[in-house]
Amino acid sequence: MTEVRLTGITKQFGEKGVLLGIDLTIEEGAFFTLVGPSGCGKSTLLNLIAGLESPTSGEILFDAKPVNDLAPKDRDVAVVFQSYALYPHKTVYENIAFPLRMKKEPAAEIDRRVREVAELLGLTPLLPQRPGSLSGGQRQRVALGRAIVRKPRLFLFDEPLSNLDARLRIEMRSELKKLHRRLKATMIYVTHDQAEALTLSDRMAVLHRGTIQQQGAPKEIYARPSNLFVAEFIGSPPMNLLRGRRVGEGVETAEGVVFRLTGERAERLGAVPSGEVVLGIRPEDLHLSPPAEGKATAEIVLIESIGAEVWVELNWGGRTIRATASADFDGRPGERVGLTIDPNKVHLFDPETGRRTD
Ligand SMILES: Nc1ncnc2c1ncn2[C@@H]1O[C@H](COP(=O)(O)OP(=O)(O)OP(=O)(O)O)[C@@H](O)[C@H]1O
Ligand SMILES: [Mg+2]
Repeated sequence: MTEVRLTGITKQFGEKGVLLGIDLTIEEGAFFTLVGPSGCGKSTLLNLIAGLESPTSGEILFDAKPVNDLAPKDRDVAVVFQSYALYPHKTVYENIAFPLRMKKEPAAEIDRRVREVAELLGLTPLLPQRPGSLSGGQRQRVALGRAIVRKPRLFLFDEPLSNLDARLRIEMRSELKKLHRRLKATMIYVTHDQAEALTLSDRMAVLHRGTIQQQGAPKEIYARPSNLFVAEFIGSPPMNLLRGRRVGEGVETAEGVVFRLTGERAERLGAVPSGEVVLGIRPEDLHLSPPAEGKATAEIVLIESIGAEVWVELNWGGRTIRATASADFDGRPGERVGLTIDPNKVHLFDPETGRRTD
């Protein structure tokens, strides 16, 4: 197991700053996910750790030893990419055996390890076949096998599941998670899919435009996004964001709904100079009920069933907001519903800086 530490990492491609100062510690044995939208620098960061690119400045340390000057092959790192890059003319057996052949391991040792890995990944019956006759999921498993067989100190995954269909992706996710538990290796996983990051990781970092916006356990990040970018990026359907302002002991939305705040949250709100705030409300924290006197109401625009629950799009005083509700929700488009929101579940952000203020 290896601890990976990045300090002050920047990467320029010509004039373009792609990574703008990354400090990150990935604990040994962690399943760590780097998540962010396309182009934010995830693959670049992974390639720096693998040694496929070198940083413009900053240091990369494995177990407190700098590896900046080590060639990829001397870092003892396995990388699994989205494209499987298997050898089409070699059998599954030979594809998995390849890294060991390169290291000139004895044939008996190679055979033992290939069979062990094949067993672990359920590939034993496929060993004599060639990649062309395998499904996408099976191919990705062979690519995994080729990575595992070397017993590297560190695994790097760059969107390894994005070529798979939705069902297979979910299946492979849980396989990866089990594999992590069995191998007890440090794994760094890159994805643009926030749901994947939330389900897979022990810890994750949200990357945007070359900087880390927030890092922590998935639950923490979901519960307390530290800025507007993270608030919108993590969670599906995304958090509703509404303009509002500070009033007396709370905040008021443009619709005139007041959320009373107490204790420290109220105090911290006092620190927002303009008094303007952005209120963030997760769709599952917007509870729908029959309209009643004195209660905020909105109009149902659209109801989408996703099986176990429904997503309800609402028009609230001209603004679109989303709620999730149980599958037996019986409203119809055009009807009005009452909205109930627990003030403790409202997230608050400074519209100027985007930072969380509560
Ligand atoms: N070799 C390169 N030369 C010049 N620019 C590059 C190079 N590699 C990456 N970039 C640029 O750096 C930025 C980050 O790219 P990167 O591939 O790291 O993003 P990403 O987060 O992995 O995106 P995606 O989710 O689309 O894979 C992009 O704007 C890309 O165009
Ligand atoms: Mg990428």
